[in-house]
Amino acid sequence: MRRILVTHALPYANAALHFGHMLESTQTDIWVRYQRLCGHDCRFVCAHDVHGTPIMLMAEKRGMSPEQLVEEVGEQQRKDYAEFFISYDNFYTTHSDENRELASLIYTRLSEAGHIERRNIMQAYDPVKNMFLPDRYVRGECPNCGAEDQYGDNCEVCSATYAPTDLKNPRSVVSGATPEQRESEHFFFKLGDFGDWLQQWLDNASIQSAVKSKLAEWFDGGLQDWDISRDAPYFGFEIPGAPGKYFYVWLDAPIGYMASFADLCKREGLDFDAYWNADSEAEVYHFIGKDITYFHTLFWPAMLHGAGFRAPTSVFAHGFLTVNGAKMSKSRGTFIQARTYLNHLPAEYLRYYFAAKLSSAVEDIDLSLDDFQARVNSDLIGKYVNIASRTAGFISKRFDGRLGDSLDQAKLFDEFAAAGDEIAELYEKREFSQAIRRIMALADKANQYVATKEPWKLAKQEGSDAQLQAICTTALNLFRLLTLYLTPVLPQTAARVSDLFRYAELDWDTRAEPLLDAPINKFSPLMQRVDPKAVQAMLDEEAANKVEAKPEAKPDKTSKSAAADDTQTIGIDDFSKVDLRIARIAKAEHVEGADKLLRLTLDVGELGEKQVFAGIKSAYAPEDLQGRLTVMVANLAPRKMKFGLSEGMVLAAGAGGKELFILSPDEGAAPGMKVK
Ligand code: MSP
Ligand code: ZN
Repeated sequence: MRRILVTHALPYANAALHFGHMLESTQTDIWVRYQRLCGHDCRFVCAHDVHGTPIMLMAEKRGMSPEQLVEEVGEQQRKDYAEFFISYDNFYTTHSDENRELASLIYTRLSEAGHIERRNIMQAYDPVKNMFLPDRYVRGECPNCGAEDQYGDNCEVCSATYAPTDLKNPRSVVSGATPEQRESEHFFFKLGDFGDWLQQWLDNASIQSAVKSKLAEWFDGGLQDWDISRDAPYFGFEIPGAPGKYFYVWLDAPIGYMASFADLCKREGLDFDAYWNADSEAEVYHFIGKDITYFHTLFWPAMLHGAGFRAPTSVFAHGFLTVNGAKMSKSRGTFIQARTYLNHLPAEYLRYYFAAKLSSAVEDIDLSLDDFQARVNSDLIGKYVNIASRTAGFISKRFDGRLGDSLDQAKLFDEFAAAGDEIAELYEKREFSQAIRRIMALADKANQYVATKEPWKLAKQEGSDAQLQAICTTALNLFRLLTLYLTPVLPQTAARVSDLFRYAELDWDTRAEPLLDAPINKFSPLMQRVDPKAVQAMLDEEAANKVEAKPEAKPDKTSKSAAADDTQTIGIDDFSKVDLRIARIAKAEHVEGADKLLRLTLDVGELGEKQVFAGIKSAYAPEDLQGRLTVMVANLAPRKMKFGLSEGMVLAAGAGGKELFILSPDEGAAPGMKVK
């Protein structure tokens, strides 16, 4: 029996879980369930990652403490994961006593061993808010192309990279004030002390080659010191012996893996040291996304090693999820929250689809919603469930719910049982898509078997009872083996099938024994085909989320109840968030099936072409609009509509119907000009 501890990345506690998170937790959960199914002692812990500036500021905006905010979001995350059947032994928080103690311990040991250095650095400071600003919280004009409202480290328009100090007219995103440069002492972890050791660890841990070659760039550039401190105000743990200095969130986040496990140990009497001491024989694995490999394959193992703990056995990185071929993004309408999915569709369908796509490679994975429906319908309903639904009824009706005492084709059953070894190996190696392909090939075989034997014909012939019972018994035993193989992916269905067989024991080791001469329960349908309306309803709900999303109440003391008051005044900063642009209506067309909408193709100069669906058909004929200049909101989150993507909004005044008037600029205005 192996002793294994597994984690996946700790989701930030300031946002709802989305499909990308579910890809990761599903991948991890399938592996964990597989290990448990093999009889290994496999513990699975997680937590939410609660520290840092964004969470601190968000809590402040909402008028609550960070602790309150993360508790609220954490509750929701726990529910989402549970409904996707993610089988954590513990889901904890990084804001725990255990984590504070472990972070302090690791820091102190690193410091005593000389791996921590202090030096002063210059950093942007918000003189109104009285806080240092992370790079992302400074925006201004790009020093290269002059584009407005760019981040402190790179320009999204011309892709130039630069220092926050290079920005023209910089301002703090938090208060709008012009940032100052101030000096402050920071603490650094000397990663370079661990260069040789890390190279060795990377080899021993069989880190994926794609990850290694990315890391090579870092090694080649020389391992830089890592800034692990932040100045107050900061939501996090204060550094021991350094008042006003806090651990940077990424310092204590991975330690959160240990802390969550420590909490579990307390509850279940496990031996923490046996897992984490330098000479531990337990296996420790982290499943993560490719964006956070530096933290997990450089800083984290080095920190552990430097502090006298064991390093992870390995780190498994996966690629990113795209939806319908596009990066998951709120503004593109390809962002789907875990909860929105759960409101409309069964969790296991998504688990299955992910499994059918996942491999051990660091490759991006696309979820095409059409493919999702086709795949679930054809594999799960058409192939897998079909085997039982075509045969179980005969056992109930004709044989008093009892399986026969022999198989019709023992060889076929043996072949299915033998395939388990190969499938096990594929699960172990995280080649889930191959495992699924193998399982579905078996399902095809089982269906062919049933089709050739035609039990429904035998059922009408006299004197064929024994044969009919043996055939159905064989098919159900094949089905039972397929269920075993799918258990890591479909835990809920597996439980139902287990009920069908009256909880007769079945595991990987004893699977070669068929279930004979045993009672079964009445078969009830296990799964329904995917309802395309449910998929559309999910997309509609997600789109509506965006439109209805209430603007966040500003922490403005004079307007406690003003959140609901829409005549409330706004600051110039709020106004400047709206990117108003001159647009030329290049094309205006009727939209089939839409009685209020026109499809406008807008030429927005430097921003290119945008498609907008405008509800102005009652007042304008398309030919009257073509070629005209008007004003549009260019940074409105795109909205997926039945007819296509709407990427903005044109402005119009009036009551509606014939009373609608779109805006026109004075002569001289050109497409793409900003309206300020
Ligand atoms: N809090 C950090 C992790 C700390 S671990 C000690 C973090 N949180 S996150 O919420 O942004 O991301 C959590 C995990 O989800 C990461 O592994 C990340 O790679 C993964 N994903 C986020 N978006 C994703 C996709 N679109 N696709 C697949 N995984 C993605 O990073
Ligand atoms: Zn630029």
